Amino acid sequence: MAEDSLTITDNRTGTTHEVPISYGTYPEYGASIPASALRKIKASEGDFGLITYDPGYTNTGSCKSSITFVDGERGILRYRGYPIGQLAAKSTYLETAYLLLNGELPDEEQLGDWTHNITHHTILNESIKKVIDAFHYDAHPMGMLVGSLGVLSTFYPNAKDIFDEEARARQIWRLIAKMPTIAAYAYRHSRGLPYVLPDNELSYPENFLNMLFKVTELKYEPDPVLARALDVLFILHADHEQNCSTSAMRNVGSSHSDPYVAVAGAAAALYGPLHGGANEAVVRMLEGIGDANKVPEFVDKVKAGTAGRLMGFGHRVYKSYDPRAALVKDLAHEVFSVTGVNPLLEIAVKLEEVALNDEYFVERKLYPNVDFYSGLIYQAMGFPTTMFPVLFAIPRVSGWLSQWQEMLLDEDQRIARPRQVYTGSDERSY
Ligand code: CMC
Repeated sequence: MAEDSLTITDNRTGTTHEVPISYGTYPEYGASIPASALRKIKASEGDFGLITYDPGYTNTGSCKSSITFVDGERGILRYRGYPIGQLAAKSTYLETAYLLLNGELPDEEQLGDWTHNITHHTILNESIKKVIDAFHYDAHPMGMLVGSLGVLSTFYPNAKDIFDEEARARQIWRLIAKMPTIAAYAYRHSRGLPYVLPDNELSYPENFLNMLFKVTELKYEPDPVLARALDVLFILHADHEQNCSTSAMRNVGSSHSDPYVAVAGAAAALYGPLHGGANEAVVRMLEGIGDANKVPEFVDKVKAGTAGRLMGFGHRVYKSYDPRAALVKDLAHEVFSVTGVNPLLEIAVKLEEVALNDEYFVERKLYPNVDFYSGLIYQAMGFPTTMFPVLFAIPRVSGWLSQWQEMLLDEDQRIARPRQVYTGSDERSY
């Protein structure tokens, strides 16, 4: 009997089945059995065979991936092997996006070409501006983003050539380049402000600030601390392996639809309050608490189930401090040195302290996640709360596209089509 295998005894029939165990990079992490092997375990000849029942895919590997590694127990996050802390300290978002997509850090020339290609695809077709204009003044910018991404698909018919490497590269440049432009235009539309053209002399985060906040000055001069903080936040949000929106990206992409509609689908998944909408929910929650003295009372209500969840706390994978949350907390102090301290910080710090010392949260291993402090930074920088999930979506596009490309080139992958356990009526007459 092979050592790396599992022997399953079916007590219904008394038969035994040997199932191979395979491994990824780490033998102690992600050892798996092929779910298809269970199909051979049948109670009778005509039986379909066993399937696994796993709502929310809490213990199902949907792919093999060499992009991002997360060890939730030990609070580790690495992109292509590089620890997130090192990338946040030394890299830029565009360099990190290249790393995610290509597997290696770029040399100087590669980075120059990559930056050039992104920079020269930032402009939106005038018709897309009209689409944004058509939204109501109080439309949620995430809705505008999802809608505009779907519209982009109609402008680039060759995006359907998903197995053409060059066509794929072009859509990747366009998507990474145009996300900040769409986001900024959605923001300007809601403010009734004219749209600002991209400035190719500025870096990616600087240009984003320019398109958002330029008023009448001839040349917008972004604050370097704020531009760098935005870039670091983009690095921290760029990928997070098989989360809800990335799985949506892979699912939509698995039917071979073009990357624009797949990104629209992924962004729609990110919009929900349990995922990318959490940073917006954190700020609303802190505003609702209103005063640091009211934190213990609020935490009691959360535990009693009468105040909803503690937003920005808990994670499907991290059962220790989210490494991104620690970096965001440090970053908050740098940003506040420019913008002034966000008054909600005191409430947030108190909430973290109370929750981390409370049996309910300790027992369930609920720690602050990336969203707990990011909203405070965004708010201090002048973003309305509705823009927060958009700020998450902008960099996550590079992760979605990396995962999408990996899926397309993976010979194991097929159209995503899970099974179900049917619990409805047996056949009956109409
Ligand atoms: N506040 C209070 N209780 C919580 C929380 C929370 N934030 N999160 C989980 N729990 C409790 C939950 O009630 C359950 O308790 P019990 O065992 O008594 O029923 C237990 O912890 C396990 O919860 P779960 O729902 O099974 O955990 P999950 O892995 O399905 O959910 C989560 C993960 C992130 C959806 C959840 O922790 C949550 O809703 N957090 C608040 C929203 C949030 O901050 N989301 C951002 C996630 S990080 C950024 C991103 O990737 O999008």
